[in-house]
Amino acid sequence: MARSTGISDRLPKQPADHRYRAVLLLGAPGSGKGTQGGILKNIPGFFHFSMGDALRNIDIHSPLGKVFYDYTSRGELVPDEYVIKFWAMTLDAHATLGDFKPLADLLVLDGIPRTLNQAKIMEKYIDVLKVIHLVCRDEKVMFERLRRRALKENRVDDADEKVIRRRLKVYEESTKPVLDNYPGDKVTEVESQGSPARVVFDILKVLSPIQDQHYTGVAG
Ligand code: AP5
Repeated sequence: MARSTGISDRLPKQPADHRYRAVLLLGAPGSGKGTQGGILKNIPGFFHFSMGDALRNIDIHSPLGKVFYDYTSRGELVPDEYVIKFWAMTLDAHATLGDFKPLADLLVLDGIPRTLNQAKIMEKYIDVLKVIHLVCRDEKVMFERLRRRALKENRVDDADEKVIRRRLKVYEESTKPVLDNYPGDKVTEVESQGSPARVVFDILKVLSPIQDQHYTGVAG
C-alpha cells in the first residue's frame, strides 16, 4: 500500500478544451536531458519541467522526500503512484502561479513519463506532439559526464558507479520501451554527443516548426 506522503489526488488543471501540448525529452542518464531542457526554457514559448529536479527539491525530511531518497539513492524509479500525483500537483502549481501558460507554452517534459504505465496515465492530460530521443552511443562518455557532475553537484545517484549502472539498466528495461508507445513519425533521434550548442541546434530544427504552428505571440 502507498505510504502517506501528503500529496493530493488532484490532477492538473487543463486548458478547457484540450490537453497540454507537450514534447518529451527521453534519454539515458547523462544523455543531456536536463542540459537541453535548461537551454530550451530560456526561449519564450517553452516551459521546461524536469521530474528529477522537482523530486530533488522536496524536503528530504518530509514523508515524500524520504520515499524519493529511498529509491533514487539505489538508482531505482520512484513508484508511479507517487510520481504521477506529484507531477500533477507541481504542474498545477506552475499553471496557477502563471509561470507555465498552458495556452501559450509548449510543455517540455524531461524525465517523465519514464514507464509505460506513466505514459498511459498521462495520455489523458498531455498531447504528445514530439518525442526527442537523446542518444549517446558511448556509455563511457555518459559515465564520465555523470562522474564529473558528481564532483560539482551533490547527487546521491551519481556518487557510486554501481548506482549509475543500475540507473542505466533501469533505463533500458523500463524507460526505453516508452518510445514504442508513440508512432514512429513522432519520435526523432538526436545525437547527444556533440557540444550542447550543436545538440540544441538539432533539437530546435525539430521543435521550431511545431512552435511556429502554436506560438501565439504572447509567451514570455
Ligand atoms: P533524473 O534527474 O531525471 O536523472 P537521470 O534520468 O538519471 O538523468 P540525469 O539527470 O542523470 O541526466 P540528464 O540526461 O538530465 O543529463 P544532464 O543534462 O544532467 O532523475 C533522477 C532520479 O529521480 C531517477 O533515477 C529516479 O529515481 C527518479 N525519477 C525521476 N523521474 C522519475 C519518474 N518519472 N518516475 C520514477 N522515478 C523518477 O547531463 C549530465 C552531465 O553531462 C552534466 O554534468 C552536463 O553538464 C554534462 N553534459 C550534458 N550535455 C553535454 C554535452 N553535450 N557535452 C558535454 N557535457 C554535457
